[in-house]
Amino acid sequence: MKLIKLNAINSTNTFLKDLSKNTILENFTIVVTENQTNGRGQQESSWVSEPNKNLTFSVYLCDLNLDISNKKYLNYAVSLSIFSVLKNKNIPNLAIKWPNDIVSGNKKLCGILIENSIQKNSIQNSIIGIGLNVNQERFSETLKNVTSLKNLLHKDVELDNLLKDICFELQNQLLILSEKKYQMLEDNYLKVLYQIHKAMMFKNTENELFLGIIRGISETGNIIIELENETKREFGIKEISF
Ligand code: BTN
Repeated sequence: MKLIKLNAINSTNTFLKDLSKNTILENFTIVVTENQTNGRGQQESSWVSEPNKNLTFSVYLCDLNLDISNKKYLNYAVSLSIFSVLKNKNIPNLAIKWPNDIVSGNKKLCGILIENSIQKNSIQNSIIGIGLNVNQERFSETLKNVTSLKNLLHKDVELDNLLKDICFELQNQLLILSEKKYQMLEDNYLKVLYQIHKAMMFKNTENELFLGIIRGISETGNIIIELENETKREFGIKEISF
């Protein structure tokens, strides 16, 4: 394990990606910054984080040797590591919102951006980017349904210790992954999946609302939703929002 601390950087994921192009990086190299100026989120979104208040960091994993068909289990391992650390802090109504947001109720606390490098149908190296709202109290009006640990616990949380706890738990979950205990990861993920088996409204790509119930995750990592007529359909990340 190696820790690189930067005062400021555009994106810790981009930094690690660029560095890995011309350097042989140690497995579990962590890059953390107090001020991420151009953070990236899923689906080309941006991740905005107030300087010195939150955790924005990335972890470089090498030689994972994970068949691409088992990609979803890497996502489970990462999401479960954050979930487990926050569960210990007694965050109310904590859940993992598919695919990998960590939420309290319907408010997002943490976002995860996993960027894999694939060779011959196998994930070799991966950059795990984590943005966790810790001590930030106010958020832009344009960001709906977000919160922080401080807003929920009404006290400051020390950033270095939190980072240490997450990295420790991430290593534990990655060990489970390396031991190919896939069913265990899936069971643990489904147990804490936001709104599973509850009727709720979804929005499709045409912005139409429909009623459904989350029933599980498909082989490929899509979400399986039971529709009103009791048929089940799977949706990819670009096909649905809720
Ligand atoms: C999302 O929910 O859209 C994912 C957000 C991921 C943000 C983190 S912050 C650290 C790392 N560096 C980035 O540029 N993004 C990830």
